[in-house]
Amino acid sequence: MSFLYHFNAPRPFHSQYILDYGKVSRNLTTILKSISFDHIYVISDIGLPSSLIKNLANHLPLHTTFLEISCTEKDKTWATVEYLLQHFQTGELSRNGLVIAVGGGVLGDVVGFAASIYKRGIRWIFVPTTLIAQIDSSIGGKTAVNTSFGKNLLGAFHPPLFVLADIALLKSLPLRQLQSGIAEIIKIAAIADNFLFNQLYTHTQSSLSSMVPLFSRAAELKIEIAQDDPLDLKDIGRNRLNFGHTMGHAIEACLQPSILHGEAIALGMLAEIEIAKQLGQCNLDAEWCNQLEQLIKRYIPHHQGFPTLSWESLLPYLKQDKKNEKHSITLIIPDSLHQARKIKITADQILR
Ligand SMILES: NC(=O)c1ccc[n+]([C@@H]2O[C@H](COP(=O)([O-])OP(=O)(O)OC[C@H]3O[C@@H](n4cnc5c(N)ncnc54)[C@H](O)[C@@H]3O)[C@@H](O)[C@H]2O)c1
Ligand SMILES: [Zn+2]
Repeated sequence: MSFLYHFNAPRPFHSQYILDYGKVSRNLTTILKSISFDHIYVISDIGLPSSLIKNLANHLPLHTTFLEISCTEKDKTWATVEYLLQHFQTGELSRNGLVIAVGGGVLGDVVGFAASIYKRGIRWIFVPTTLIAQIDSSIGGKTAVNTSFGKNLLGAFHPPLFVLADIALLKSLPLRQLQSGIAEIIKIAAIADNFLFNQLYTHTQSSLSSMVPLFSRAAELKIEIAQDDPLDLKDIGRNRLNFGHTMGHAIEACLQPSILHGEAIALGMLAEIEIAKQLGQCNLDAEWCNQLEQLIKRYIPHHQGFPTLSWESLLPYLKQDKKNEKHSITLIIPDSLHQARKIKITADQILR
């Protein structure tokens, strides 16, 4: 017996993204008045300043449950997801419950994943508190944890109902973390928006508020790219966002925990362009490549000073990359039209 039937899944994505300065509490109050829920769980990163959670708590119902968790990259595991699921179950969180995640990209990925599988998916709201989370990881619905086989290998598409990105929350973020986030802005400008690329180049102020237009343009670009290819299925679609990430993830894995994600991506962007050049597959003009290098030097000074890694040490991680096909490693690099393209390389080409 055989049945062919259509199943409208995964369900359509609806996620409202709000970026502003200093309005997170007000926005949260408005949103909570507009939706129904029977209980709220707030999961936050233990590394956040306590005042941040206290301020939010003033705008939440009295019976809200608060849970702080340690959420570094090494906590981005199934064990942390299981810990959250156990809390939800013992707290009798129903399908009409609401989870609010407050933290960086790691916390959002883990809490979002737990929300995606608890009772087959419950609603969550993300209050991102790092630059990477505000302009990148909170957008597009990807949630994940790492496994011993590699980064982000278990996960689901489960976008938050709302993202409340408040740039004022970044005031307490260490400068190095902020600079790490700028790597993702340089990346998206390099593959999708030459105007933003030039704006980064000519921007001279260092205050957070002066950076708001650059941050919001980066978020807008991420929304456009994710919306165009929500499930990451196109040949060149959402995977354009992986410029710098094949090499970057391998570098990050080798230098964990001393390197930050954006620093590894900065090194990854430079390395991938160098590989493309050496293979005769780089269409970019020398001046543009030089500008990219200058941007990285200026905005992410910490990318320098890490030990040089051998190809032999990177290769096992490169082979784990999700974009790979059977015998090749895939790199995404910008092309001369400020779009992006895929190049495939083999382990032999790398080791040669
Ligand atoms: N889902 C996606 O589409 C996506 C996209 C990009 C990155 N990511 C993931 O995001 C993760 C990196 O996220 P990240 O860079 O935000 O790092 P992170 O979540 O580890 O946070 C960095 C550090 O900043 C601290 N912190 C957070 N907010 C703070 C604040 N406002 N003030 C003071 N300290 C604060 C945290 O305690 C932590 O120590 C990686 O795991 C990456 O895979 C996911
Ligand atoms: Zn990234």
